[in-house]
Amino acid sequence: MANDSTATDPKHVIHLSAECYPVAKVGGLGDVVGALPKYLQHAGLNAWVVMPWYNKPFVQRHDFEVVYRGNFQQGSRPLEVQVYKEKHDVLGFGLYLIKIPGLLDRDEIYSYVDESEQFMAFQHGFLHWINEAAIIPDVVHCHDHHTGLIPFLMYHSDEFTAFKDVPTVATVHNGEYQGWMDWNKAILLPTFDTWKWGLLDWDKVINPLAALIKCCTVFTTVSEGYLQELTEQTNGLEHLFLMEQHKSFGIVNGIDTMVWDTERDDMLHQNYRITDVQSGKNKNKAFLCNEFGLDSTKPLLAYIGRFAGEKGADLLPGIIENILSSDGVELSIIVLGSGDPQVQTAMAFLAEKYQGKLGVHIGYEEELSHRIYAAADFLIMPSRVEPCGLNQLYSMRYGTIPIVRRTGGLKDTVRDISEKDGYGITFQHADIDDAVFAIQRALELYKDKKRMQQLRKQLMKIDFSWDKSATKYVELYRNITK
Ligand code: ADP
Ligand code: GLC
Repeated sequence: MANDSTATDPKHVIHLSAECYPVAKVGGLGDVVGALPKYLQHAGLNAWVVMPWYNKPFVQRHDFEVVYRGNFQQGSRPLEVQVYKEKHDVLGFGLYLIKIPGLLDRDEIYSYVDESEQFMAFQHGFLHWINEAAIIPDVVHCHDHHTGLIPFLMYHSDEFTAFKDVPTVATVHNGEYQGWMDWNKAILLPTFDTWKWGLLDWDKVINPLAALIKCCTVFTTVSEGYLQELTEQTNGLEHLFLMEQHKSFGIVNGIDTMVWDTERDDMLHQNYRITDVQSGKNKNKAFLCNEFGLDSTKPLLAYIGRFAGEKGADLLPGIIENILSSDGVELSIIVLGSGDPQVQTAMAFLAEKYQGKLGVHIGYEEELSHRIYAAADFLIMPSRVEPCGLNQLYSMRYGTIPIVRRTGGLKDTVRDISEKDGYGITFQHADIDDAVFAIQRALELYKDKKRMQQLRKQLMKIDFSWDKSATKYVELYRNITK
C-alpha cells in the first residue's frame, strides 16, 4: 500500500458510525467502517472509529480502558458518558466506544423504541468528550443518519464552537433511512442557534440525514451510480440531493482483502487459490450441500442478505417457486437471511416443500455467509435499491458468479457476460420474470465447464480492494483541509 502523505496532509480523521465490523455489524455499513480506517492508516493517516458501546462478544473479549468520564444533560435528563478505548489497536486503527448508562449499554444495535434518544446521546456524548478533552481532529467523517446531527452541532451549537472550522465528510450508505423525529425532540439536543432550525428540518420533522447533507462540507455515496439515483428516488430527499450535488462525490466501496481471502479465511471448510479454484469450490460445495441436505452435483445458487424490500427479498419466494417447479430444472438453492416476517414464513414453507432442493437458514451468521460465498456457483441479488452492495464483491472474490439487478452499485461493479470481458449476469427489472430468466441464463452457462472455469479465475483476479478507494478518500480529505 502506498504511503503518499506529506507533512501538510490531514492526519487525524475521526469516523463516526453505528456499526463497525467485527465489533458490531448488521450489514455493509459495518464492513465499510471496519475496513476503510485500516486502509487510511496504511496511507499514513491517524484514523479513529467512534461508535456506541454494545454488549457484544468483541467488547467482552478485548481489553478496554476508560479514557474519559463526564456528564451532560439530554433535555432535563442527566447523562453520564464514559469513553472506552480498545487498548492494543487490534483492528489496525483507534477504536473508541461511547457508553451512556441507560441508553448506550445494550445488546443490539438498532430497533429500540428510544432509538432517536440513543443516537442523539451518542452524538452529543462524542462532541462533549472531544470538546472537554480538547481533541481537534482534522476531519470528522459521519456515516449515515445515526451521525447526521454532528455537522449541524459542530457549526451551530454554542457548546461546540471549538469545531466550527473542522471540515466534515458525510457518507450516504443508504438514503432510504433518514432518522426522522418529531420537532418536540429538539429540546433534547445541545443548545443551538435557533435561527438555524431550518437546517434540521425536512417536511416539518427533524430529518438527521437531510441535516447531514445540508451542513457537511462534502458528501460521498458508495457508488457513482447511486449518486445519480439519489437525485431521482430517495424517499423524499431527491430535491435536496439535487441542490447539494455540487459538493458530492461517488466513491465505490472496496472490500477488506485481509478478511475476504480464500487462501486464509479460517471460516472456510477448504481454503483455495485461483489456481485450484475449481477443486477448492467443489470441496466447499460438497460440504455445505451435505449440511443442508442438497445435491452438490447440481449448480448451487445462493442468496445472502436482509429480507427487506430494497433487497427485493419479497421476490425471492416467487423466484424460487417459479424456478424449482419448472420441468427438468437441475438446481440447488441456499438462502441465508432474516427480516420481513412474511418472507421468513414463505421461505420456511418453501424449504419444506422443496426439501433436497432448497436449504434455508433464517438468521444472521457471519461464518455461514463466508462458507456460502465459497461454495456457491452463483449468488443472486434482485435489489430494488443497492447503493453499493458488498455481497457481489465478496462473491466475485470467492469465484462465485453474481446474478444482479442493474441498479446502483450493482450496475457499476458487475458487467454482463454478453459484453466484452463481462463476468456476471445482470437483469433489468426487479421482478420475478426477469430474475428467473437471469437464472436460466446462469444454468445454461453452468453447462459450459470450460467457460465457468475461466470466469471464476477472471472474477478472482478483479481488484476490488480498498486500496484504490481509500486513496480517493485521502484526496478528498486533502482538498477540504487545504
Ligand atoms: P446491506 O448493508 O444493505 O445489508 P451490503 O451488500 O452492503 O448490504 O452488505 C451486507 C453485508 O452483510 C455483507 O457482509 C453480507 O455478507 C452480510 N450479511 C447480510 N445478511 C447476512 C446474514 N443473514 N448472515 C450473515 N451475513 C449477512
Ligand atoms: C448500505 C447499502 C449497501 C452498501 C452498504 C455499505 O447498507 O444498502 O448497498 O453496500 O451500505 O456502504
